[in-house]
Amino acid sequence: MKKYLFIGNWKMHKTLKETESYLVNFLEKLIDLELLDREIAIAPPFTALFLAKELVKNQPLKLVAQNSCWEEKGAFTGEISPFMLKELGVSLVILGHSERRHIFGETDEIIAKRVWGVYKFGLIPILCIGETLEERQAEKTLEVIESQLKEGLKYLKEVRGDDLVIAYEPVWAIGTGINATPSQAEEVQSFIRKKLAEIFSSEVAERIRILYGGSVTPENIEDLMKEPNIDGVLVGGASLEVEKFFKICSIKINKRTQVNTQISLPNYSNLPQEILEIPKKYRRLVIVGASPKSDRPSYIVMDYLLKQGFEVLPVNPAYKEILGQKTYPSLEEIPPEFKPEVIIIFRKSEEVLPVVERAIKVNPKVIWLQEGIYNKEAQSLAEKEGIKIIMNLCFKKVHMMGKKDKNF
Ligand code: PGA
Repeated sequence: MKKYLFIGNWKMHKTLKETESYLVNFLEKLIDLELLDREIAIAPPFTALFLAKELVKNQPLKLVAQNSCWEEKGAFTGEISPFMLKELGVSLVILGHSERRHIFGETDEIIAKRVWGVYKFGLIPILCIGETLEERQAEKTLEVIESQLKEGLKYLKEVRGDDLVIAYEPVWAIGTGINATPSQAEEVQSFIRKKLAEIFSSEVAERIRILYGGSVTPENIEDLMKEPNIDGVLVGGASLEVEKFFKICSIKINKRTQVNTQISLPNYSNLPQEILEIPKKYRRLVIVGASPKSDRPSYIVMDYLLKQGFEVLPVNPAYKEILGQKTYPSLEEIPPEFKPEVIIIFRKSEEVLPVVERAIKVNPKVIWLQEGIYNKEAQSLAEKEGIKIIMNLCFKKVHMMGKKDKNF
C-alpha cells in the first residue's frame, strides 16, 4: 500500500545537542502514534546524521539527507556521496530544493545527475520542483513544472514508483508563511501525476508519492492532505519544533474523493459478509494463493481490502507483484515484522492442511478458508493454538462479479 510521507527538512539548523533533545522528545511522542498509513522522516544537516542514526535505531523514523553527489568517491570538495549516506542509515535524499537552485545555482543538469546517482545506489530521490512568483504571474507555472520534471528525471530509465518521490514546492511559498491553497497545489500535483504517467506509465505514476512543500503548518495540513494528489508533505520551518511537527504528522487524513468517470467500481456487496465486516482492529492480512487475474476472487478480495486501507501481502511464487504489492513465494518468507492478524487461504481442499500448518506458525488471530473446504484436521490444529478458523467462505457470487465487470 502506498503510504503517506511526512518529512521534516531542518535545513541548516540544529547542533548535535539540539538534535539529541529533539529526537529523544519526538521519538517518545511517536510511540503513541499509529503508523499504519504513513511514514515519517527527518532531514537533519549532514553533521547530525551520524548521531541521528544512533538515536533512531529500530524506531519508525526514517532519515533523509538534504543533498548528495552522484559519484561514490573522488575529487568533489564539499560533496557527500550516496555511498556515505547509506552508511549513515539514510534512505531518502532531497534533491533540487529551491534553495539549492536559487541560492547555490544548481542547474537542471546537475540535479538530474544527482537524482540518477542517488537512485543508482538504492536510495530514494526526492526531486523538488516549483515555480517562482514571477513565473506564476506570467502563467508559466505548468510549463516550468514540466520542464523541471522532465529534465530532473532524464537519466532515470525505469522506476517502480515506490522508489521515487516528487516534491512540488512553489518558490513563493517556501519560508514565506504563504502556502499554496489546497486547490492550487492539487492543480499542479495532478498535472505532475499526468506527466509522470507519460514519462513512465500510469501504474508507475500512481505509485510515485507527490509531496507538497511550502509553509506547511499544523493549521493548514488537514486541508492540504484532503487533496487526492497530495501524498504527503515536506515541512521546513514548522518541523523545527517537536510539538508542531508531531501535530502535522499525526493528523487524521480524510481524502476528498476523486470523481473518475472512466473507472466503474464493482459492486462489492457480493463479497462474503465476513470480508465486508472485517473488524478495523485487524490491519494486516496475508492472502495465500493471491491471483494477478482480475476475475479471480482472491484478486477481488485483495483489491477491496487495499481500497479499505488494510495492508495486504500476497503470497504467490509465480508473480512479482499483484495490485502493486510485492509478492512472497511462501508464508515463511513474509517479513517477520509484518505479523499478519488474518491469513486468507485460497487453495483446493487437498492442499489446505499443509498450508494451514504453516499459517499456524505465523500465529495470526484468524485463518480463513474459501468455499467447499471443511477440513476437520485443519480446524482442530488451529483451534488447539487458539486461532479462530473460518471455513467455507462463499465466493460463488464473487466469481460472477469478476466475469461481469470488464472494466474491473
Ligand atoms: P517551509 O519550507 O515549510 O519553511 O516553507 C519548506 C521547504 O523548503 O521544504
